[in-house]
Amino acid sequence: MDRKILIQYALEARKAAYTPYSEFQVGAALVTKAGKVYTGCNIENASYTPTNCAERTAFFKAVSEGEKDFSEIAIAGGKKGPVTSFTAPCGVCRQVMMEFCDPKEFKIIVAVDEDNYREYTLEEMLPFGFRPGDLL
Ligand code: THU
Repeated sequence: MDRKILIQYALEARKAAYTPYSEFQVGAALVTKAGKVYTGCNIENASYTPTNCAERTAFFKAVSEGEKDFSEIAIAGGKKGPVTSFTAPCGVCRQVMMEFCDPKEFKIIVAVDEDNYREYTLEEMLPFGFRPGDLL
């Protein structure tokens, strides 16, 4: 999917971030192989540990609607206000990606804005990862 449009989706999703504790706001836009976009934001909690990252929100929304094939995700995050640096997905989110995505094919786009972004494969972000097939 066009990177600029995808980053716009992530930045728009970021506006819904519920972050009273960290004020660190993240938006994500996940694309299925069929080209459908699922967005997500981070959702914090007074008890802290139930906090859900933007990336997992997007994945869980998509999987809960029957999607299991994904091509890429765009992520934009930073302290409240305009995004000024790249936010990489946390280790837990990388592991969730590993459950559903081919590490050599799935792309992770970290963005400051639609003209300033970097793109990685899941394998680059999580080398030698543990995958469902490893249980067989
Ligand atoms: N967070 C995300 O949503 N995604 C990331 O990739 C990094 C961290 C959230 C979790 C928490 O609400 C806040 O950012 C600070 O860690």
